[in-house]
Amino acid sequence: MALVFSLFLLPVAAQYSEDPGSKFPTPTVESNCLQDNLADNQVYYQKVDQMFNGSSNAICPNTLGLYVNQPCTWAAGRATMTVAPVINQCHWAIRNFHWHDSSDEWSYMVQGVMQVYLTSPSGVPWQSAVNTIGAGGVWFFPRGWPHAFVCVSEEGCNYVLTFNGPQSVAVNDHMIAESYAQLPDKIAAYSMGMSMGEWATAKPKMSADTGTFFAKVDSAKFKWLPEENAEPAAVNRSDVEVEDTRPGLGKGIQVWNIRTAQFPFATRMSQQRIVFQPGGFRSLVWITNAAAIMTVISGHVNAATQGGISGGNNTGPSSTSYEATNLGPFDAFYFPIRRGYWIEEATGKEPAEVIVVFEVGNWEALEAKDGFSCANPLGAPWAYEATAGGIECPSTAELVQRDGKRHKSLRRHDNSDTQSLMQQPKQTEIENSEL
Ligand SMILES: *[C@@H]1O[C@H](CO)[C@@H](O)[C@H](O)[C@H]1NC(C)=O
Ligand SMILES: *[C@@H]1O[C@H](CO)[C@@H](O)[C@H](O)[C@H]1NC(C)=O
Ligand SMILES: *[C@@H]1O[C@H](CO)[C@@H](O)[C@H](O)[C@H]1NC(C)=O
Repeated sequence: MALVFSLFLLPVAAQYSEDPGSKFPTPTVESNCLQDNLADNQVYYQKVDQMFNGSSNAICPNTLGLYVNQPCTWAAGRATMTVAPVINQCHWAIRNFHWHDSSDEWSYMVQGVMQVYLTSPSGVPWQSAVNTIGAGGVWFFPRGWPHAFVCVSEEGCNYVLTFNGPQSVAVNDHMIAESYAQLPDKIAAYSMGMSMGEWATAKPKMSADTGTFFAKVDSAKFKWLPEENAEPAAVNRSDVEVEDTRPGLGKGIQVWNIRTAQFPFATRMSQQRIVFQPGGFRSLVWITNAAAIMTVISGHVNAATQGGISGGNNTGPSSTSYEATNLGPFDAFYFPIRRGYWIEEATGKEPAEVIVVFEVGNWEALEAKDGFSCANPLGAPWAYEATAGGIECPSTAELVQRDGKRHKSLRRHDNSDTQSLMQQPKQTEIENSEL
């Protein structure tokens, strides 16, 4: 009886987080730098020193490093995501209130403590949210929602912004100073809640501030506001990350996931963090419902996508392996949707850490080891043997019997973290069959 009940309740409980479209509209903006000629010599990575460098010492004495990925120079201009590392946003420096017309925003805090502000257009799930996160924490900002964030730690803040839109965010930003400075005076004064006299004093400052990314908060005015706990827009790692302990993900690695199931506000983006021991590797995997951007957090890695973006007359890229060697901190790699990728620690001597950020809330991963290889315990080795040049699968990878044990093998892949709506009815069927 309990099972029947849970079946009925499932769609209701799951609707909110599993159907992103019901909460935020689907992205529609296209890349503004499509290359018609999909040459074989595509590039899928961008080192931080190849990105747009908007660094400045106007606000932070030791240079606030602002880097924005150049979308036209990788993935034949067809990447659906972009990335922007920010290094050394100093104590009390604030990213000015702004919003993005083309992308949701995901951020991973590498260092420091950030207080984050986000305003909702509809008053749902709140009018404004304030959250504070430390290193390892993440935030999600829906496109169009105005946001700002101030570094509240003396050590300064480093973080990696990842966007699920194809256009470089710098050209799509719009900041409040720009909006107000361009308004007729009576509308500006009214919108700001100022008298005409007050606006006359404010206007020249605002006009001078258009196009400025960062400012300094007056620390004497700063207050610790109560945090939004019911549905936070920014979360600390310890509250959301789930270790992915399924076998077959690679060797010498630890894998940690944050999906919408753990971070309900983030309906359209998600993250896998991978910690490598020296020489460790993330095995070949295909993401079937999303592209992703990997950014190196520490150490050095090699990575490749098995196949690039193809189309038109040139199908060469679909069968080419595009590699990058020795990517270091803040270097990024774009994994196109439905191409396999792998990542390995590059030196054999030091640990490394990367994040892989997906453009959906619940990515679907096909691990090579589970999908089609001798190692798949439910697979058909004769098929892999014949289609891989007549190899022989080792006998240790024998088929498991297709009897009552089958569901146990299936369960090996189950993980509360990875269960999607589609998988849950199957799980229930399996349990029913045991009754
Ligand atoms: C970016 O520009 C800043 C300021 O000009 C400079 O100090 C820094 O070295 C540059 N960064 C890179 C990675 O080239
Ligand atoms: C997250 O961690 C930071 C410090 O690292 C702390 O200031 C903040 O209160 C924490 N937030 C929550 C919601 O626990
Ligand atoms: C693609 O192939 C078609 C048919 O062979 C040909 O007419 C066309 O010119 C080719 N286009 C390019 C860009 O090579």
